[in-house]
Amino acid sequence: MERVSQQQQQQCVKRREVPTTMMVDGDDCNERQQPMPWPTKRPCTRATLQEQVQRDDDGEDCGSTVRAIRGYCRKRNMPSDVYRPVVQPDVDRCGGGKFRLTDLIDELHRVFAEDRVNVEYVQYLMESYRSDPAEWLKYAKFNKFRYTRNLVDAGNGKFNLMVLCWGEGDGSSIHNHPQSDCMMKILAGQLTEVRFAWPERSDVDGGDVDEDDQRLQPMCEIGRTLLETESVCHINDSMGLHRVENTSHTDKAVSLHLYCPPFEECSTFNQQTGHKTVAKSAFWSIYGEKVSKKRAEEHVPTDDN
Ligand code: SIN
Repeated sequence: MERVSQQQQQQCVKRREVPTTMMVDGDDCNERQQPMPWPTKRPCTRATLQEQVQRDDDGEDCGSTVRAIRGYCRKRNMPSDVYRPVVQPDVDRCGGGKFRLTDLIDELHRVFAEDRVNVEYVQYLMESYRSDPAEWLKYAKFNKFRYTRNLVDAGNGKFNLMVLCWGEGDGSSIHNHPQSDCMMKILAGQLTEVRFAWPERSDVDGGDVDEDDQRLQPMCEIGRTLLETESVCHINDSMGLHRVENTSHTDKAVSLHLYCPPFEECSTFNQQTGHKTVAKSAFWSIYGEKVSKKRAEEHVPTDDN
């Protein structure tokens, strides 16, 4: 994958230009594929917990989710307003039913069975899924010291779908996505995505670079976006590096990440110096089950669910 200049990266971010297709093996490609026909409508409005509780009190049918969330949070001593459930759209968005997390996963499997995948369609699928905590709470396992990565689906080796749980003030290091596309959807709360240009002389492909050759200077921030619940962002190495932060001191956050293809190692960067370090990715839970420390360090099976 070619590294682009900082100016190109900035233009890319400013104009929100993204490649329209990605190869499942990780190479970018500019040929456009026709978007698939389903789901057909754009996402609909959402409501806050308060609005939903109001509906619940009014006797409408969306109270069970609220009750489930309250019960879940009470049991785990978590503030229930972390999870702002969404009201399901009034209109039928996918020809007769709700577009569930399981529908999203099924559709991703169908799309990723092809050699070439339309990035815009994948982003659209991620946007089309309306966060329903009842569907993802079993994956949302927090750790009080740092954010956690919880595998939802191993995508038959083609992609990884995971739920990330961010406590108050948690954040990731500045990192790359080696040969991979990353889509991130906010399921609950808010997250800030901070983008950086590649440090000069750092190696996009993760090969050897003599440390003495790296100029030690602060990394250049090229964008900062506050991502609200339901929003989706996309990044790959040609678009820069990023780190994600939950800047709230009072609210947790939960996000859904799709990596295509999956990767187990990436580079992290020191913001002050641009110095690069290899970091291994580990899961805190797999398919809803907390992993032992030993298993977390082992290779994750490509697909056994
Ligand atoms: C992020 O994008 O900040 C999350 C990185 C990860 O997958 O751990």
